[in-house]
Amino acid sequence: MPSEFLYRDVIARQRAAYNTFVSGYELEAARRDEWVGRWLEPVMRWVELAGRPKPEMRVLDVGSGIGSFAGHLARKGFDVWAIDIADEMVERTRSRLRAVYGPEARRRVARGSFMEHDFGSQRFDLVLGVAFVHCLPKPVDVSAIRKMAELLTPDGVAYLTTTAEPDGRAALALKDAMRGERRSTLTRRYRTRYTPLQFIERIREGGLTPWSWSDAGDPIELDHTTPTDAMPVFPDTHVPGKHWVDVVATRSGARLPVSVCQPGAVRSACPGAKQTSSRLATVG
Ligand SMILES: C[S@@+](CC[C@H](N)C(=O)[O-])C[C@H]1O[C@@H](n2cnc3c(N)ncnc32)[C@H](O)[C@@H]1O
Repeated sequence: MPSEFLYRDVIARQRAAYNTFVSGYELEAARRDEWVGRWLEPVMRWVELAGRPKPEMRVLDVGSGIGSFAGHLARKGFDVWAIDIADEMVERTRSRLRAVYGPEARRRVARGSFMEHDFGSQRFDLVLGVAFVHCLPKPVDVSAIRKMAELLTPDGVAYLTTTAEPDGRAALALKDAMRGERRSTLTRRYRTRYTPLQFIERIREGGLTPWSWSDAGDPIELDHTTPTDAMPVFPDTHVPGKHWVDVVATRSGARLPVSVCQPGAVRSACPGAKQTSSRLATVG
């Protein structure tokens, strides 16, 4: 573990930083809403193949931000829950869920640190950690993945994303006022950076099995032997040269369902047609 002091400092800074970023996220809310379906494509393939009714699929959005993902999935009919550490983000997620759940939205969105929050006996079919794991210092990032694994139902999946970095670093980083904060505002927040392979390895260390989809729509298990071009790395939609790693992960021992498409079937009719996911620059 990092020292208790470092860990508490990181948590306090993240809370303060993301409270500051909320107005910037809201400025981009419409654009995010437009893209969120695309960003979820790799995991929606699993939803499609699993073939279960959406209201029976319980989702936990960890580090939900303003609730772009939680709101989208709630509107689609999933049973959505969320947690965020920043008070302002919690309020935004609640307001997006209120449109679907009314006053019940309040208890569906927890305010607090994921590592410390007690979920009781609740288990989830889908745990989202979109641009979340990299908010935690090593090795708490792995502990968080382990906690996500424990929160999954036996055949549930996690969807974990981060930016693809040329080398792994972890540090306090200054973020400038790109998002509508007062000009020249510099906010210090913590950021762990991973190469795609390092991210895959962290996921495995956390007790989950990472997967990608082949061009034919079949699951490919990811490990250190996976060729670079089979890694689930996608270009950012707005920043040239920036890439995301978007990973669907099962509990170890579990597998992703396989497409029922037969050889020769019409490709567009197959649930596993090639993914085209790409990500927006402004999450991070
Ligand atoms: C980069 S943002 C991603 C937001 C959202 N998932 C999205 O993609 O739009 C990370 C979010 O995680 C939250 N967060 C950071 N550390 C956290 C922690 N320990 N527990 C819960 N939430 C945390 C932040 O407040 C922020 O809203």
